[in-house]
Amino acid sequence: MTSATATPIYYVNARPHLGHAYTTVVADAVCRWHRLLGHETHLLTGTDEHGLKVLRRAEQNGVSPQEWTDRLVESEWKPLLETLDIANDDFIRTSEPRHETGAQAFWQDLHDRGEVYKGEFSGWYSVGSEEFVADDDVLDGEGDDEGFKISALDGSRLEHVTEENYFFPLAKYQQRLLDLYEQNPRFIQPESARNEIVSFVRRGLKDLSISRSTFDWGIKVPWDEQHVMYVWIEALLNYVTAAGYGVDEERFDRLWPANIHLVGKDIARFHAVIWPAMLMAAGQPVPHRVFAHGWLLVGGQKMSKSKANGIRPDELVDVFGSDAYRYYFSRALTFGSDGSISWEDVHARYHAELANGFGNLASRVAAMIGKYFDGALPAPGDLGPAEQAIVDLVREATTTADAAIEAVAPQDAVAAVWTIVEALNGYLTEQAPWAVAKADPHDPRLATILVTAAEGLRALAVLLNPVMPRACAALWDSLGGAAIGELSDQRIADVATWGQIPVGTTITKVPSLFPRIETETPA
Ligand code: ME8
Ligand code: MG
Repeated sequence: MTSATATPIYYVNARPHLGHAYTTVVADAVCRWHRLLGHETHLLTGTDEHGLKVLRRAEQNGVSPQEWTDRLVESEWKPLLETLDIANDDFIRTSEPRHETGAQAFWQDLHDRGEVYKGEFSGWYSVGSEEFVADDDVLDGEGDDEGFKISALDGSRLEHVTEENYFFPLAKYQQRLLDLYEQNPRFIQPESARNEIVSFVRRGLKDLSISRSTFDWGIKVPWDEQHVMYVWIEALLNYVTAAGYGVDEERFDRLWPANIHLVGKDIARFHAVIWPAMLMAAGQPVPHRVFAHGWLLVGGQKMSKSKANGIRPDELVDVFGSDAYRYYFSRALTFGSDGSISWEDVHARYHAELANGFGNLASRVAAMIGKYFDGALPAPGDLGPAEQAIVDLVREATTTADAAIEAVAPQDAVAAVWTIVEALNGYLTEQAPWAVAKADPHDPRLATILVTAAEGLRALAVLLNPVMPRACAALWDSLGGAAIGELSDQRIADVATWGQIPVGTTITKVPSLFPRIETETPA
């Protein structure tokens, strides 16, 4: 069974910002870790292209929505994945035929099962978040929004809609959903999101309007050409259409149900309430887990495309590199909570943790093996207590990191691995191989110390590879890793096995993994 991971598919009303990159980077790191566990994995991401929000943006720019999305997907959204070294297995655009075919098949099936009915909708709609907003959540706008109704959910402006629509009988799924949350406590995480979802569903659910008939930028309802699917009820289906629903049974069996959907908490209700109800209605299994992470805040505010407070991901990558970018977002924030980010914080951690902590360790060890052993890994002597402590720590840190990844706590996984970086730096300071060499260049301790450090670095190259694939590949090369095998073929279970780098392996000087950066905050 494949362990399939998915990010949300993002609206292409604008270019991506750090918030989108955040979910995608963590999903990629988690998936890469699963590969190191030896699991068959699959990472899906993509773009959500239909609906009024994208349509209006295209109109404002004087192009058709298809031209607009084609342009943005090619010039911004796909390149972002390269910039961030995302190893996704698939990228789905909701304007692709495979999605249209699968979505229509799913809708037809719901219809055939009597899970769709026609009715009249009259109420409020937020184009900003593409959602129908219940009357209880409608507020009078103030300030800039004076004269408008706004959504209590996210402050977006509302429009009143009266149209004939198709409905999905969501209300009748209340008990089945509550049973799902009860029987599978990991279905929606973290605890804060779970509590919010459970109490929301307990308050009772209303049937959901699922089609629109006043514009046509969407997928046609298969039995009624006058309607397009409401964008969310189409977009959620990307997870199954990309997996081959209705088209490729073998693929669908392999990829569905997904292991985990990683999403922001802004869209937790769609993923933890509406999505499982749709799957239940269609007789399909629900994903194993939905994890709703917190928001990136800039200056205390949620970063968003419409608020223009977004730093661009490529600006950060241009200065700090993709590894540092991935490291920062995996480590500096607690995945399930909101967290503030700043250019200054990235800069500070880059120097303290990456340049001085990890990068310096790697270059010191390679330089000493070069200096004292002509770059050929010597044969170590017996391990003493200080060496045994390093081996034990590597084993413990690996176990802790693995549990943290399982709990979708990348920050804890990286912190656990970082105890190895710190321990190795401390070990070198205490053992002072340069002093040993000075006192007696033939002291066997010298080889033992440097081999221990090199084996520790080998472990780090494997453990940090999911987060920093470039630096770890360079480190692996420097350690002569080819003598062990491909870095991507290493396994978490073997990381703490010592003595893997063969005696005599050429250890080369590491190119500076994290060179110091003089640039300060951009203007
Ligand atoms: O909601 N902090 O797309 P979207 C953290 N198309 N994460 C953030 C963020 C922030 N400030 N801003 C955005 C949609 N994100 C739908 C999804 S899925 C079937 C359809 C991330 O472009 C986070 O993952 O508004 C959030 O849930 C997602 O981007 C919303 O992206
Ligand atoms: Mg949004």
